[in-house]
Amino acid sequence: MIEIRGVTKSFGQPPTTVLHGIDAVIPEGSFVAITGRSGSGKSTLLYILSTLDQATSGSVLLGGRDPEKLTDSELHDFRNQNIGFVFQFHFLLPELTALENVLMPARKHRQHLNSQRRAYAMSLLERFDLKSKADQISTSLSGGEQQRVAIARALVMQPQYLFADEPTGNLDSINGEIVMRILEEASRERGATVLYVTHDRDFAGRADLQIQLKDGRIDQISRRSIDTAPAP
Ligand SMILES: Nc1ncnc2c1ncn2[C@@H]1O[C@H](COP(=O)(O)OP(=O)(O)O)[C@@H](O)[C@H]1O
Ligand SMILES: [Mg+2]
Repeated sequence: MIEIRGVTKSFGQPPTTVLHGIDAVIPEGSFVAITGRSGSGKSTLLYILSTLDQATSGSVLLGGRDPEKLTDSELHDFRNQNIGFVFQFHFLLPELTALENVLMPARKHRQHLNSQRRAYAMSLLERFDLKSKADQISTSLSGGEQQRVAIARALVMQPQYLFADEPTGNLDSINGEIVMRILEEASRERGATVLYVTHDRDFAGRADLQIQLKDGRIDQISRRSIDTAPAP
C-alpha cells in the first residue's frame, strides 16, 4: 500500500508551491494512472512517491515504511530492491548491450549479480520479444525496443513498486500498446503496484484507479467499477 499524507512540494526562493497537500491511499497491486495537464505536478508527485525526491511537508509510506526515516545507504538499498522507475526517455547506457543494461541495477549490488538474476533478466527480454537482441548494443535498437529494455531494467530486481513517467510518450501507437501491456502484466500477474503518467485517455481508462491532478491538487480520483471492467 502507498499512503500519501498531506504531501506538499515547493521549489526555489521565494518558494513556489507545486503540490498543495496530496492525500491518497493506493492499495497494493493496483494499476494506477496519473493524469492532468502539463505542469500540474505529475512528475513531481511521481518522483516523491518513488523516493527520487523528497516532499517539502507531509509523508509517503511504502508498504508501511517511511523512506525519509532511512539512512542514505538504507535508502539506496530500499530503492534498489523495492522500486523500479521508467522514464519517458529510456536513459540506457549506449555502450552496453540490452542484457547488460537490464542487469545494471544488479551490478550496483554485486551480491545480486548471480546466475539466477541473469536468467531472470533473459526471461524478461524473452517475454518482451527481445531475446534475439540481448547481446546488441542498446543504440542499435529501435525506440520501442529501447523502452522495453528500460522496463526490463526497472523490473529486474522484482520491485513491489513500479513508477512510469509518460512511458509511452515517445512511442508510436503500436509500441505504446506493447508497453502498456507489459505494465499491466507487471501489476496483474506479478502483483506489483504500478503508477503511470499518461496523456492518453484510453491508456488511463485501463487503470483500477485514476488520479487526476490540476494545479498541484487532486482534481478527481476515479475507481474503475466492476460494471465498467472488461468482461472476463
Ligand atoms: N526542479 C524544479 N525546480 C523548479 N520548478 C520545478 C522543478 N520541477 C518542476 N517544477 C515546476 O513544478 C510544476 C510541476 O511540474 P511537473 O511535476 O514536471 O508537471 P507535469 O509532470 O505534470 O507536467 C511546473 O510548474 C514546473 O515548472
Ligand atoms: Mg511530467
